[in-house]
Amino acid sequence: MEKTSEVHMCERNIIDLEDFTAAEIRMVLDVAKKMKKIVCSDVKKLSNLRGRAIVNLFCEPSTRTRTSFELAGKYLGADVVSINASTSSIVKGESLRDTLKTIEAMGVDAVVIRHKAEGSAEYASKVITPIIINAGDGAHAHPSQALLDLFTIEQFKNRLEGLKVAIVGDILHSRVARSDIYGMTKVGMEVHLAGPKTLLPRFFQFDGVQVHENVEDAIKNADVVNVLRIQLERQQAGLFPSPREYARVFGINDERLKLAKDDVLILHPGPQNKGLEISNAVTYGKSSAIHEQVQNGVAVRMALLNLTLCGGEVD
Ligand code: NCD
Repeated sequence: MEKTSEVHMCERNIIDLEDFTAAEIRMVLDVAKKMKKIVCSDVKKLSNLRGRAIVNLFCEPSTRTRTSFELAGKYLGADVVSINASTSSIVKGESLRDTLKTIEAMGVDAVVIRHKAEGSAEYASKVITPIIINAGDGAHAHPSQALLDLFTIEQFKNRLEGLKVAIVGDILHSRVARSDIYGMTKVGMEVHLAGPKTLLPRFFQFDGVQVHENVEDAIKNADVVNVLRIQLERQQAGLFPSPREYARVFGINDERLKLAKDDVLILHPGPQNKGLEISNAVTYGKSSAIHEQVQNGVAVRMALLNLTLCGGEVD
């Protein structure tokens, strides 16, 4: 494995974990550990990115990802502006290209982009020069979410390699699942997927990942269960059984979780459809790390911004 001392992420775009090495993932997790101390301290301010400007361009709804990228930039001392598509010139018909060019003209150093089109982040990296960080492009990728999932697992389990993770739900439409699969397999986790046949990818190109139509097979002896949101907005009619049927067959509840290890860790990227993919009791139960995922999201995004914008050392 490459040594992290030989890894450089300065000026690197973050499009997907597909093109990350295990050493790069390790580096982000190590820096995030230091950043978490800042997030948990009374004075959340570093000067690593003082004088740098970051624009968050969010063309799809977001609470966690947008707020945490915004706070991450601010905690590092950067100036951060968030643009919401619904209050921008995009509603007047301005194209993504022109929007990006406009932002570039203002002298920003990085653009964090969320957009409903797969490939939009990569496209942005081709048309403008600031660093591009993908905050979710359609059903394609969500690298910072996958990194915060890994960070959270490691914080609770003290390791990643060899752990069994079950990812349950709407795999087909989930950018989180795709990025998780790349990240988790690269760090040596055993990945099992489960969901209704209609929500599993038809042509599955990942080696070393097991796909189950039966959720029980996937969560048996699992160390981690990552519950995905049913992406109602990305579905064509007919792919989805009734909510009650879904909850009955695939919903993660206390009864079903008895199949997993006693110390199983529950993740969910949020927002949750409670009572559909996850029960209230599991969300607020002893195994849940859903709240910690949100806190860790700020630390991981600080790490990504500091590394890619060449922000230097953190004590
Ligand atoms: C995810 C997203 O937007 O992809 N949410 C998030 O970023 N925390 C997952 C989802 O919307 O289901």
